[in-house]
Amino acid sequence: RTIYLKDYQPVPWVIRTVDLDFRLHEKGTRVISRLTLERNPAFTGQAAELRLDGEGLKPVWLRLDGSELHGDAYGIDDQGLVLFNPPEQFVLESEVELAPEKNTTLQGLYRSGSMFCTQCEAEGFRHITWYLDRPDVMARFKVRLEADRDKYPVLLSNGNPLERGELPDNRHYAEWEDPHPKPSYLFALVAGKLKYIEDSFETASGRPVRLRIYVEPENIDKCDHAMQSLIRSMRWDEEKYGREYDLDVFNIVAVNDFNMGAMENKGLNIFNSKYVLARPDTATDDDYLGIEAVIAHEYFHNWTGNRITCRDWFQLSLKEGFTVYRDQEFSSDMGARGIKRIDDVRMLRAHQFAEDDSPMAHPVRPASYMEINNFYTVTVYEKGAEVVRMQANLLGPELFRKATDIYFDRFDGQAVTTDDFVRCMEDASGRDLTQFRHWYDYAGTPELTVQGEYHPDEQVYRLQVRQSVPDTPGQKNKPPFHIPLVVGLLDSHGRDMPLDRSDGSARPELLEVMEKEQTFEFRNLPEAPVPSLLRGFSAPVKLNYPYSDAELVFLMAHDSDGFNRWDAGQELAQRVLLKLVEQAPEGADMLAEFTHAFHRALDAAHSDPALLSEVLSLPSESLLGERMEVVDVEGIHAAREQVKAHIGKRLHDDLLSHYRDLGEEGEYQVTPETIGRRRLKNLLLTYLTASGSREAVDLCVQQYQAGHNMTDVIHALTLVADGDHPARQELLDDFAARWHADPLVMDKWFSVQARSSRKDTLERVMALQEHPAFSITNPNKVRALIGSFAMGNPFCFHSADGKGYTFLVDKVLQLDGINPQIAARLLRSMARWRHYDKARRELARGQLERVAGQNGISRDVYEVASKSLQG
Ligand code: ARG
Ligand code: ZN
Repeated sequence: RTIYLKDYQPVPWVIRTVDLDFRLHEKGTRVISRLTLERNPAFTGQAAELRLDGEGLKPVWLRLDGSELHGDAYGIDDQGLVLFNPPEQFVLESEVELAPEKNTTLQGLYRSGSMFCTQCEAEGFRHITWYLDRPDVMARFKVRLEADRDKYPVLLSNGNPLERGELPDNRHYAEWEDPHPKPSYLFALVAGKLKYIEDSFETASGRPVRLRIYVEPENIDKCDHAMQSLIRSMRWDEEKYGREYDLDVFNIVAVNDFNMGAMENKGLNIFNSKYVLARPDTATDDDYLGIEAVIAHEYFHNWTGNRITCRDWFQLSLKEGFTVYRDQEFSSDMGARGIKRIDDVRMLRAHQFAEDDSPMAHPVRPASYMEINNFYTVTVYEKGAEVVRMQANLLGPELFRKATDIYFDRFDGQAVTTDDFVRCMEDASGRDLTQFRHWYDYAGTPELTVQGEYHPDEQVYRLQVRQSVPDTPGQKNKPPFHIPLVVGLLDSHGRDMPLDRSDGSARPELLEVMEKEQTFEFRNLPEAPVPSLLRGFSAPVKLNYPYSDAELVFLMAHDSDGFNRWDAGQELAQRVLLKLVEQAPEGADMLAEFTHAFHRALDAAHSDPALLSEVLSLPSESLLGERMEVVDVEGIHAAREQVKAHIGKRLHDDLLSHYRDLGEEGEYQVTPETIGRRRLKNLLLTYLTASGSREAVDLCVQQYQAGHNMTDVIHALTLVADGDHPARQELLDDFAARWHADPLVMDKWFSVQARSSRKDTLERVMALQEHPAFSITNPNKVRALIGSFAMGNPFCFHSADGKGYTFLVDKVLQLDGINPQIAARLLRSMARWRHYDKARRELARGQLERVAGQNGISRDVYEVASKSLQG
């Protein structure tokens, strides 16, 4: 059963107010609900009945306007409740029984450890009570919850706290009221034995806000970074977008069992503890950055998502694409902008480009789905953010701010579409973005093929740009997109030449590519330039330009655009690696050249360590795989190892002295400078270790034992665990002994082993499922062990014997009965099976067919399996 965007209809009745009463018990939890409903003026059709969503609810009673409903006035099936002929306006009251203690899906009301919590996006609320569980129904919520006083001293829900009090039988209650109408997916409650840290924030207009972060007692010393990130986010949204917070309190709760990263429930954000908890000895630099970004992301949703929400789930990118763009900009302002951009693009190319080139490809605004939970994707989130970024860059900062002001003003309190968003861009700028909207409607990564011609007699340079967008499932022969291509032209000294377009354009660096084939002309150029194309990654496209290796080296050294300096180096590295994969005769010379360039970059005075670490990083195995017609699993791995070892040996002593210079000094800090130094230092250690020198491996052990911070410790452990160093098992055991009681740290331990390229990795992964710290019901554990293996270890996962595929499908089928969302996500690691050789294709197809042919499989997993087989 597929749901289509074109079938969207407003609801016949809307819900105005919701009163919920939760009686939480270890067994036999009850939910009493009181809804006020009325005819929807926006509904134009005929409707005599009203269907409310509800799944897995055990009905106790139902009343309409105070009287018990007769059997002939309603019907209940496995999807919900149908009211026949309800009045224009009425009150619906109900009581249902739930079993949160048995809920392993982690949607709706469930238990994580000793607490109760909820996850309602996208369609979890229907597992709590009868409701119009869709985002265009926005209502005022009042919540009362009661539970045992000792086991659940903390009782939280959305909005502002009202009264609380004691009850007989050692129970107590609390009441909450959210003055802002909201869709059901933003409902939340938490009950548990929690501690909190508290701070405060005064909004620009003087509203005092009480900020709290609630965690399990043992984690109370790991919340400071999250709190500081929250305060910085609140200030930033006021300064950059004029958006203030709108309640008296803002609460965050960290839970261990969570399907995604976090959830923006109004006034009560619930987080995967991975994105809250950090201490220098338990969290890496990337963890710290991830916390800052996710705290900001969820906070920013208060305006882009909550105050203004989505009309339907096809519009998911309205809130997610925009909010990711906002959190990326926030992180850039807080840290190192250039590095952040490189990291974001690296991730986009590795995952989103791959998704776009797979049977799971879909537009930023999909036109259909079977299970909406399968559409919380890198396309909707990260490509969606790129689509907002392109609009921001097309308009420029002032007009973009004007456009977002219009958006917030025009749609506050409403559920709207991506089209409404684009119209604000048009209204603010007076531009026509009709063609730009293709970015929302068509899947696939556009490809630009560019050629340059210099005409010395005319002093003119012409750039000819051709675009094409590949066919994707269900979409063929796409029209040309509107693509912002930002360029520079370098003279022979590597300086930017002044740009003067023959068409007199006021922004000559911005080429707006709108046709299939288009030529842009620059005049008054005394010499032939080297073009620097797609600066700052101005559009999420693949770019082809016939650069010589020498030109790439030149751009790497001189381009004023930091992103393109890095990208030229990456392109060069890919060329070398792919030549080595092919075992082409020129590979050896190219490797020597590359090592030379590497050496020069390493020794260049005053280079920024963070940028240097990006420049010196090799493209990943998956990225290399995407550049091949048929992925050569072993060849890619071997080539990458060969390059690392070659550099490690050739530059050994130089790497070593730089490594020593970068050693830890003083107390651990999270600043762009210190993060950059640690990144570079650890990268150098990677090359040193690849050299196989005794000294290097000893350095790893020393770095591990020095234990300055988790970034250094886990990197050293990763390097030692990847080979067969004698100290390998000892260090792994030491780590587990030390951290067995800290689940987030143990996730790293599982992941390190699952990512190892050793021959016995799959065997180890299987054995580790029996480890006491592992749990198949905890998504973080599943991601750390099974996810790391299937998505972070292409060499072992795609092993020629097909054992990786069989193992994965075993796990998918096991998990499908526990948590279909997580099962479906794991299965995505097989979606690109057609890119492999015949033997692997047969093995993978067989496993996908095993899934698709399984009786009683979830909609989530069925959609991924069937689309993967079709596409
Ligand atoms: N809105 C959340 C975020 O972007 C994601 C929650 C989605 N959860 C889900 N089960 N589909 O942070
Ligand atoms: Zn989000």
